[in-house]
Amino acid sequence: ARAGGGDEPPMVKGGIPWIGHMLAFASNPFKFVERAAREAGEVAAFRLLGQRIVLLTGDEASEAFYRSSDEQLDQSAAYKLMTPIFGEGLVFDAPIARKNEQLRMLMPALRVEAMRDHSTKIVQEVEDIIAGWGDAGEIELVEFMKQLTINTASHCLLGREFRYELSTEFAHIYHDLEQGVHPLAYHFPNLPIPKFRRRDKARKRLQELVGAIVRKRASQAEKPSDMFQSLIDMRYEDGAKLDENEITGLLVGAIFAGHHTSSGTAAWVLLELLKNPPVLRAARQELDALLGRKGDVTFQSLREMPVLENVLKEVLRLHPPLIILMRQVSEDLHVKGYTIKAGDMVWASPPVTHRMSRLFSNPAAFDPDRFSPERREDRNLMAYQPFGGGKHKCSGNAFAMFQIKAIFAVLLRRYDFELVDAPESYVDNYADMIVQPKSPCRLRYRRRPASSFVSDYGKGEPPPAAGKCPVDHGARARVEMPKITVAVDRGLCQGHAMCMGEAPDHFHVGEDGVLRIVKEAVTEAEMAAVQSAINYCPNAALRLERR
Ligand code: HEM
Repeated sequence: ARAGGGDEPPMVKGGIPWIGHMLAFASNPFKFVERAAREAGEVAAFRLLGQRIVLLTGDEASEAFYRSSDEQLDQSAAYKLMTPIFGEGLVFDAPIARKNEQLRMLMPALRVEAMRDHSTKIVQEVEDIIAGWGDAGEIELVEFMKQLTINTASHCLLGREFRYELSTEFAHIYHDLEQGVHPLAYHFPNLPIPKFRRRDKARKRLQELVGAIVRKRASQAEKPSDMFQSLIDMRYEDGAKLDENEITGLLVGAIFAGHHTSSGTAAWVLLELLKNPPVLRAARQELDALLGRKGDVTFQSLREMPVLENVLKEVLRLHPPLIILMRQVSEDLHVKGYTIKAGDMVWASPPVTHRMSRLFSNPAAFDPDRFSPERREDRNLMAYQPFGGGKHKCSGNAFAMFQIKAIFAVLLRRYDFELVDAPESYVDNYADMIVQPKSPCRLRYRRRPASSFVSDYGKGEPPPAAGKCPVDHGARARVEMPKITVAVDRGLCQGHAMCMGEAPDHFHVGEDGVLRIVKEAVTEAEMAAVQSAINYCPNAALRLERR
């Protein structure tokens, strides 16, 4: 029988008057939400201090979370603490329609065409950061990935000026902004404490620097290809340009959304590869076959790396950096027979849903093969949710995947790595707001001998032909049906334009970011390209329909 009964979601046991479950939650947020779902089910209520919260896990309840409108589930309450950092009138501090227009403005710089330029910059950043490594040494992996990904993010998003000319000052500004992310800011964003004063000073200085660069770039004939420029060129639907406050806020928003999420994920990719040597061998074999020892890591070569991609997906299933997503209920919500009242908070929890055995086979195991074409355990978009879901699914997900593939395409071909400590000592740090491996997280590296590019191939077998993956992923492109058309789920498409890159005869994404299906029917000769577009859509918004 369900505790709580009737229409009310079942309560998690053990809350204390006034405090609710705050102590258990604060001591380990992930352990607490996992227990809440285990004990009270996929719709589980509890209190943190005065606030009632309903945790929604599993595919059905997650669907209610991700598919509800912004009018019903409000994002802004959850992100209120970011307002002094992003700026007034920006994103979560703007009315819903304006917020969504601003979020859409980030897309052009995160879309697949933009990745051509970004990939070159990312590869350069990896080469630069390891240039001084020498033949062997030790690194603190979490710190290393944080540094690398702030370099890549400032290069691709903020541009050359911040990355090179202003890098020291930007590092200080960024540090002060990061320090300003504090739970106190939910309720007292302007408390006169040093942390918040430094935060406001940093935000103001950043905007001055942004203003100076906007003016300098206006007189330059050749414009750079970064998110900064794309925001300078952007217009609201009513034709208005973004002002300096808005450009600053959106840039900061993109950096905050993408930095620790990407660095933690990149760190876990290397840790899981080292914990699973056969998978590491397969990933290396794939890279060596695709690029050889000296091949350039290009946009083109990064597109198809099924072994590394599946490793990355599996890392994101077991270690999603955002473990709790929040919304405030503005209108009563009905989920699985329960009513969740206006004023309550609802939470989704990707790692809890990712560990459900009815949704993922043997969920505790690290098994990248679960994403193979035969198994496709990421097919259910409301179950596999490291990037969230629905219309607010992460718009940087294609960027994140490309970036991590680029990082490992360089690192794994240049160096061998080994764990310094016992494998089981490398674990998630759930005390962080964005979960990353716990520090110290030490690794040793050694320059990879040239000879290993031959001997690494499965005990004397010749290397696989260039461009061919050692794992058989042929089924990706195999569809034999006579009358087939392609369709798009408008609720999921965010205009990444990955499809346009793969099958330009069928898909076109215009300046407005809206996908147009140029041609619905798919012939046998076109099937491989269209299937590729479907497979690579970061939001899984495309499907084939058979008549
Ligand atoms: C939203 C995860 C990298 C930009 C989200 C959300 C998740 C997520 C779970 C949904 C939040 C919610 O519904 O409340 C991740 C992970 C990443 C990653 C796991 C890396 C592995 C990036 C990068 C960028 C980015 C690199 C940009 C450069 C955004 C933006 C949103 C978002 C702008 C808000 C989308 C909207 O509300 O429309 N991300 N993210 N993310 N992410 Fe990411």
